[in-house]
Amino acid sequence: TLKKRTVAHLLRNQLRDSLQKTLSTIGAVGDALGRSVFVVGGFVRDLLLRQENFDVDIVVEGDGIAFAEEYARRYDCRVRAHKKFATAVLIFADGFKVDVASARTEYYLEPGALPTVENASIKLDLYRRDFTINTLAIALNGPHFGELLDYFGGQNDLRGKAIRVLHNLSFVEDPTRMFRAIRFEQRLGFQMGRHTVHLLKSAVRMGFLDKISGPRVFNELVLIFRESDPLPAMRRLDELGLLAFIHPTLSVRHLSDGTFAAAKQAVDWYELLYTGERCQRWKVFFLCLLSDLDHGEVQQIVQRLAMPPQCEEFFGSERDAATRILNQIEWRSMQSYRWRDSDIHALLKDLPVEALLYGMAITEHEEARRTISHFITHLRHVKCLLRGHDLQSLGLAPGPIYREIFDALLDVRLDGQVVTREDELQFVTNRYVEKIEEKPSR
Ligand code: CTP
Repeated sequence: TLKKRTVAHLLRNQLRDSLQKTLSTIGAVGDALGRSVFVVGGFVRDLLLRQENFDVDIVVEGDGIAFAEEYARRYDCRVRAHKKFATAVLIFADGFKVDVASARTEYYLEPGALPTVENASIKLDLYRRDFTINTLAIALNGPHFGELLDYFGGQNDLRGKAIRVLHNLSFVEDPTRMFRAIRFEQRLGFQMGRHTVHLLKSAVRMGFLDKISGPRVFNELVLIFRESDPLPAMRRLDELGLLAFIHPTLSVRHLSDGTFAAAKQAVDWYELLYTGERCQRWKVFFLCLLSDLDHGEVQQIVQRLAMPPQCEEFFGSERDAATRILNQIEWRSMQSYRWRDSDIHALLKDLPVEALLYGMAITEHEEARRTISHFITHLRHVKCLLRGHDLQSLGLAPGPIYREIFDALLDVRLDGQVVTREDELQFVTNRYVEKIEEKPSR
């Protein structure tokens, strides 16, 4: 087992100075209040795995809110308290956040009631958690700073690369853990233990997934799609029957390894090119997952997951439009159609970038892929140079005609027929001469 010394050493070497300082001041406030405080969960797991994690979760043996308020009195930060859950967030001037919870056990007075929270020891708090690798805690109080608490074999499972639940009812109590188990397996390159797989399979068989609300399932899927390579996790969800549970037609069997790899490549390419304009990569992968399904099936999935309206539109009308447009592009590519840039722009301009990247991933026509990437890199941001006041100075009365002129200007610019501002003015004067009321006042 790791010695206390080793973990203190990790805290020193792995964390940036400001975070080390925050942790030791948290310990100092614990000392002042006579309360034990710990950093727990994913942060400790990732520290031992030498992976960066900025989600600091603190557990206080006692009143977490009172602790947070005392901390904020001594150090420069704000507190946001959630009384119902006896938790608080410390918000530092630079935006850094630390979650603080009260060590507690949750029990329900009656089924469906809100949990009644009462203080309890750190060990019980850790026992409530999902997997052994997430039950590690590090003491922060001065005399104990750096001491590792490992009640449930977390270090052993980190070494053995195993995801294990703490008790037989874990998936029954919280079925979202089935998704989490698979996400951690793939992210960390770990494997569920045999007994844990067995428990997961029986929870699936017994229909416990039905107990999770749509938004919670949706959230778990999005989290998986946000991982750097979601395909292995999707395959595992499929194999264990979790996808079919969301919808009987949902599967990754129709997808070749190539599709997700192409999606990942397209998204990485985009994010590298446009660092300022991140796209929602999970949407690109989600579209790939749905690629074999028809409109009605996708709608049922949207309903089952109770997606928010904006996603409903994305996976509804916007997906349908993307499919239609992609078909057109593929068809024209096969005819060796000679595209004008203005044609490409007209087709693609209203599609969200996630749908464009999906099109690049899913198409088997190299020419179609090139057309979309050409739009993204060269056409998407093209704008004409003239503005409304320029048209006014030409003697054009403002009205719907302006939209038409700007569209026409954009088309000739896309097709290389105008370059300078002068060219644009010339174009407008020639084309719209009959609309010009007065002499241009340039
Ligand atoms: N947890 C749990 N059951 C859940 C969700 C969370 O027991 N359904 C526990 C886990 O032990 C986890 C802690 O709550 O360590 C915090 O949750 P979260 O921040 O989601 O977990 P992380 O392990 O930090 O995951 P990630 O690295 O993906 O943020």
